[in-house]
Amino acid sequence: MDKFIIHGGRKLNGTVAISGAKNATLALMPAALLASGTFKLGNTPRLRDVTTMSSLLKSMGMKIDFTNNLLTLDTRGVNKHEAPYEHVKKMRASIYVLGPLIARYGRAKVSLPGGCAWGPRPVNLHIDGIKKLGANVELEHGYIVAHAEKLTGARIHFDISSVGATGNVMMAAVLARGTTLITNAAIEPEITALAEFLVKMGAKIDGIGTNRLEIEGVSDLHPSDCETIPDRIEAGTFLVAAAMTGGSITLTNVNPNHFSAVTAKLEDAGCKTEILDSGFWFQAPTELKPVDATAVIYPGFPTDMQAQWIALMSIATGTSIVTDTIYTDRFKHVPELERLGADIELKKNAAVVRGVKSLTGAKVMSTDLRASASLILAGLVAEGETEVLRVYHLDRGYEAIEKKLKALGADIERVAGEEF
Ligand code: EPZ
Repeated sequence: MDKFIIHGGRKLNGTVAISGAKNATLALMPAALLASGTFKLGNTPRLRDVTTMSSLLKSMGMKIDFTNNLLTLDTRGVNKHEAPYEHVKKMRASIYVLGPLIARYGRAKVSLPGGCAWGPRPVNLHIDGIKKLGANVELEHGYIVAHAEKLTGARIHFDISSVGATGNVMMAAVLARGTTLITNAAIEPEITALAEFLVKMGAKIDGIGTNRLEIEGVSDLHPSDCETIPDRIEAGTFLVAAAMTGGSITLTNVNPNHFSAVTAKLEDAGCKTEILDSGFWFQAPTELKPVDATAVIYPGFPTDMQAQWIALMSIATGTSIVTDTIYTDRFKHVPELERLGADIELKKNAAVVRGVKSLTGAKVMSTDLRASASLILAGLVAEGETEVLRVYHLDRGYEAIEKKLKALGADIERVAGEEF
C-alpha cells in the first residue's frame, strides 16, 4: 500500500486542470447497459473507482477500452446480470447496475453494499423505487434478487433526495411502460449529467435539473457519447489546499456554477475569487477567518467537502462549527487531524473546530476518500514531515493528486510499498 511523504510550508501557486467527475462517471458507465452498441465517454478520470466499475461491467460481458481519458464501452456482449459481493464491497456505487439491468434484461442480482468506513449506507430507497416500478425483489443471502417481465411507470417520492436512488430509479424508468414521476429527486450535477446522457440515448425525461423528474418510458434506447462534467469536489479540494497554504491558483476545466456554495464559504473566510474565460482564479487571504459550514443536499455545501473544510478551519483565527446533515457519522478524519495538532471537539454530527496557530507533521492513516484528502491538506501546512498511509483511498477519487500538487509547488512524494 502506497503512502505520501509531505513536507509542509510551501505556498501553492500556478494552474491546475481539474479531471472529470468521479460521481458522474460511476453513473454514466452502468447507463450503457441500457442499450446495445458502442459508447464513448470523454474526460473520464483515471481513478481506482473507475477501474472497479470497469471490472464489474467486464465481468458482465462488456468490452471496455480506456485510453487517454477516453472510455469506450461496447455492450453487445453483455450476458451476465450480477454484481457480486467482491465488487460491491469495494465500491458502493456498483449498485448503479441494478436499475439498468432490471430495465433492459428483466433481472438483476446485486450484492447489498454493507457499510463503509464511516458507517451504514442503506439502499432501501433504491429497492423501494424499483419495486414501485413493478419489480419483484427478494433479499437472499446478502443479495438483492430482482425480476420483472416489464417495468411499469409509477409515482415515486423520495423521503430523502438520494443521489444514488435517483440515478438508479431514473435508469430503470426510461424503459418502463408508461410515465414515471419522481419527486424530491436529487439535483446534484452528476444526476443532471446522467439524465442528459439518457436523453441523448433516446430517453424522454422532463424536469432535468429540478427535483421533479417526469419520465416517459420508451421501447428501446441507442448508444451515445458524452464529455464528462468536471469534478466539483476535486475543484473544491484544490481551492482549500491553496487557501490553507496561502497561495494563489487558477483552476481550468471547471464549471464554477457547480461549486458556488464552496466558493461563497471561501470568500467568507477572506479568499478572493474570479471567474475568467480561461478558468477560475483564486487567492488565499493572509489570515483565514473562521466560517461555519453545514453539509446539505445540492446546491448547498457538499458533504464531500466537509472533511476538507474542517482541515481548513483547523488553522483559522477562531472557532467554527462544521455540521454534516447527510452523513451524521462521517468524521473519521477528526482523530487523525488531531494527531497533526488540530483542536476539534465532536458533538453528534458537528465538529467544533478551534483554530490553532500551526499544525505539526505526524504519521496519519487514511480511512476513506475525503478523510484522506483532509489529511493531505493538513500535511501541506503542518511543520515538518507528515506521512499519510494507505493512500489507495485517495486514488479512488483523485486523479494523480500528488503530481498536480507537486506542479503547484507542494513538497509531496508517493512512496510505493508494502503494508505500512
Ligand atoms: C453519492 O452517494 C456520492 N457517491 C457520495 O460521494 C456523496 O457523498 C453522496 O452522494 C451525497 O452527496 C456517488 O455519487 C458514487 P445518497 P450516495 O444516496 O448516492 C441516505 C464521494 O466521496 N440513503 O445521496 O450513496 C444515506 O444514508 C462519495 O465521492 C438512505 O437512507 O448518497 C445518506 O444519509 C462518498 N437510503 C443520504 O441518504 C438509501 O437507499 C444521502 O445518500 C440511499 C441513501
